[in-house]
Amino acid sequence: MLVIVGSRREGNSYNLGQKIKSACDAERIHCEIIVPGNQKIHLCTGCMDCDKNGVCDFTDDMKDNIEKIKKENLIVMITPTRWNLLSGDLKLFMDRLNPLYTTKELKDKKLIVVAIAAKKKELYSSEATISSLISFAESAQMKVVLKEEFNECLNANDILNQEEKVNNLISNIKKEALKD
Ligand SMILES: Cc1cc2nc3c(=O)[nH]c(=O)nc-3n(C[C@H](O)[C@H](O)[C@H](O)COP(=O)(O)O)c2cc1C
Repeated sequence: MLVIVGSRREGNSYNLGQKIKSACDAERIHCEIIVPGNQKIHLCTGCMDCDKNGVCDFTDDMKDNIEKIKKENLIVMITPTRWNLLSGDLKLFMDRLNPLYTTKELKDKKLIVVAIAAKKKELYSSEATISSLISFAESAQMKVVLKEEFNECLNANDILNQEEKVNNLISNIKKEALKD
């Protein structure tokens, strides 16, 4: 599986990504983390050239990312909630996946979406974030097989206080990986 971490700080999204990877490594389940914010990725110009041939004109880290995505059936997207939405880093990554929209190479891949927020659940901030990820999946014709929200995570390690929820999620993610 590929885990896309939508925050570049070594915070909650990163911590969760690392925990997923360690758990997968222990059971020899293939798992690779991509942090778009730490890569060289140009902003999509909207030129639409990729609509013609499924190829982006830019040569940057998305070339490699796209090759990796093509090979994987299970993608996990973890994003901090920002203004009730997904992070800009993750949105930029999604925009640059447009070459795969044209060729329908995202279609039917499994997607797991995770939103992390500082606010409490009843304020619906992370719910809106999850909705934005699900909308992406619908547009890409991917299948959302799991979704999870973590709330009350303001500081970088706050998610580690929600151990049971983290472990449940990881266990369900591994089950999805083993179905393939
Ligand atoms: C620009 C910005 C906007 C944010 N907007 C929200 C928000 O709308 N709702 C919320 O609950 N938390 C918001 N937060 C807090 C982050 O979601 C929270 O700290 C999260 O744990 C960060 O994840 P990270 O540690 O992986 O970076 C915002 C943080 C930043 C930097």
